Amino acid sequence: MIIEGRAYVRGSLQDCCIGVENGRIAEIKRTLKGDEKLRFGGIILPAGIDLHVHFREPGLTRKEDFLSGTTAAACGGITCAFDMPNTLPPATTPERMEEKVAAVERKAFVDFGLYAGLTEESDIDGLAETATAFKMYLAASEGDLAVGDFSKLLGLKEELSAAGKFISIHCEDPGHIRDGEAKRLEDHLASRPDSAEVGGIEMAERLKGLRIHVAHISSERGLTSLAGTGFTSEVTPHHLFLNVNCDLGAFAKVNPPLRHKHDQNALWRAFADGRIDVVASDHAPHTVDEKEAGFDSAPAGMPGVETTIPLLLERVRRGSLPLERFVSTVCERPAEMLSLKKGRIEVGYDADMIAVDLKRPRRIRADDLHSKCGWTPFEGMSGVFPQTTIFRGEQIVRDGTVIGKPSGRYVGAKH
Ligand code: DOR
Ligand code: ZN
Repeated sequence: MIIEGRAYVRGSLQDCCIGVENGRIAEIKRTLKGDEKLRFGGIILPAGIDLHVHFREPGLTRKEDFLSGTTAAACGGITCAFDMPNTLPPATTPERMEEKVAAVERKAFVDFGLYAGLTEESDIDGLAETATAFKMYLAASEGDLAVGDFSKLLGLKEELSAAGKFISIHCEDPGHIRDGEAKRLEDHLASRPDSAEVGGIEMAERLKGLRIHVAHISSERGLTSLAGTGFTSEVTPHHLFLNVNCDLGAFAKVNPPLRHKHDQNALWRAFADGRIDVVASDHAPHTVDEKEAGFDSAPAGMPGVETTIPLLLERVRRGSLPLERFVSTVCERPAEMLSLKKGRIEVGYDADMIAVDLKRPRRIRADDLHSKCGWTPFEGMSGVFPQTTIFRGEQIVRDGTVIGKPSGRYVGAKH
């Protein structure tokens, strides 16, 4: 099998042939001979890796499941997604991790990793053997999974160090979160101010020495605190593309909240100049009914796994985002951080790629997307969608729909 076209190889676009064997890239040459050739116009890029999704299994499958979630991922050009543990019940024990793998494996169109949720009571060794990575909620946010006693959790530092796992932290210090009725996005923002993010990063600093990753950095002050910590970090498309002044009401309620324009601008600057490692969607689908139940009772979170790549490629198309930054933050860095042979068009790497035509943007419409939730905060915005997604050398998306059977694999525990 040979894929031919203008591909992003070793930092630049080159006309080439990519030879695939057993799902991996076997050679890259100017020309290659073979019977089975797929030729693409436009450009060929590595497929993306999303380090932060909520596919809602088990227990919350009215919002999403692995079939719908990984379908959305594949159609959005993502071939590996890392699923969060705040499910029902939460993924917090080795038994539950194993049950989860068994339940979702046959429904996954793309590869997946699973986070185990950490608390001060966690069986670290058992989780290290069953989970891909760890997630720590310093404050609860949808579901009641959170570290209860942080000083007790600090007592697990040696065990955590021995486990050597990637630890994604939801950095909101519960001491800075104010209760009270919220009617609008401004009220929600006021209840979870940027000082909560700063406080959360300061708490995380007490775990220095571990592989700490700051999930969804959202504020200018948070970025200042992040500098010099040595932690890796991610930003979401919703914090890049939206702010508290948008008119989406409860549909844009999310934790950490959408903030001010100056925060949004600071995130773009940090993203552009390399201070943020990755873009991750924090795909957090909730149903329309739940979101329409009144601002205060509406759950926080919004979908995004299918629109991350389209939104960012639209910026590339318009010349406001260098292609290298896109590939680094969506493909290369997430793969490196989780030790995956993905995210690059290079010999020995998984043959996961997307073909895109930068001359063909289209409007983002919920009707065209694949999450069960049926809505998108980016409705009407322009995006460049993959024409096709290639996963382990096979075309799994053609003309906006998935084809074939689910063949995603669990990335597993050795990461
Ligand atoms: O807004 C959010 N929604 N933030 C989170 O941390 C969790 C997520 C969810 O699970 O819905
Ligand atoms: Zn999340």
